[in-house]
Amino acid sequence: MVLGLTPLLKRIGLPMMKPKATRFLMDQISAVIEDRRRDRREGATRRRRNDMVDLFIDAVDKEADNSNGSKEELETIMIATCIAMQLGGYETTMSTLSFVMYYMAKMPEVQERMRAEVEAAMKAEGVRVAEQLSLEATNGLEYVEMVINETVRFHPAVGSVARQCTKDYCIPGTKVKLVRGMEVFIPTPVIHMVRKD
Ligand code: HEM
Repeated sequence: MVLGLTPLLKRIGLPMMKPKATRFLMDQISAVIEDRRRDRREGATRRRRNDMVDLFIDAVDKEADNSNGSKEELETIMIATCIAMQLGGYETTMSTLSFVMYYMAKMPEVQERMRAEVEAAMKAEGVRVAEQLSLEATNGLEYVEMVINETVRFHPAVGSVARQCTKDYCIPGTKVKLVRGMEVFIPTPVIHMVRKD
C-alpha cells in the first residue's frame, strides 16, 4: 500500500494495494464469515463469539431484510471494513505495546505503579488474572492509560494524518498556499514534540 500517492496511482492505473495480498485477505475473511454462517444454519450457538464478525453478520442480515442494498454488496463492505480494521489495528497496536514494554523495562518504578493499579482493579472485581478484568475496569486504569498515551506521544504508530483541501487556503503568518484538491499531510510526531512553555 502506498499512502498519499492515490491520485498518481489512479492516473497511471496502478492499484492502491497489492491485488494478490488483498485477494488473500478477502478469501480469509470470506472463509470466516462462511464458517460462522454455517454454524448459524446448523444451529450451533457454541461458536457465537459476539465479536466483530458476528456483529457484522447481524447487521448485514438486518440491513438486507430492510432492503438497504443487496446481501452481496453489504458483504463486500463488511469484508473491506474487516481488512481496514486488520491493517489499521495490527501494526499500530504491536509497535505501541512494544514501546510500552521497552519503557516499563527501562523504568521499573513506572512498571510497579502500573502493576499496583492492575492488581487493585483485579482485587476490586474479584478476578484472579488480569485478562478477566471487565471492559469498564480496564477503561478505569488511569495510570496505565497515561503511560500508553505518553508512549504514543513519543512514538506515534502513524506518522501523519492526511486530509484533502476543500478550498484554497493560506497558512496564517506564512506564504504557504494550499490549493483546493491538494493532499495535505500533518506530521504527528512534530506536533507531539512542540514545547508548550
Ligand atoms: C496505538 C494504536 C493506534 C493508533 C496510533 C492509530 C492511529 C490512527 C490514525 C492516526 C488514524 C487516522 C485518523 C484520521 O485520519 O483522522 C487511524 C484511523 C483508523 N484506525 Fe487506527 N490507530 C490505532 C489502533 C487502531 C485499532 C486497534 C484499530 C482497529 C481494530 C484501528 C482502526 C482504524 C481504522 C479503521 C481507521 C480509519 C478510520 C476512518 O477512516 O474513518 N486503529 N488510526
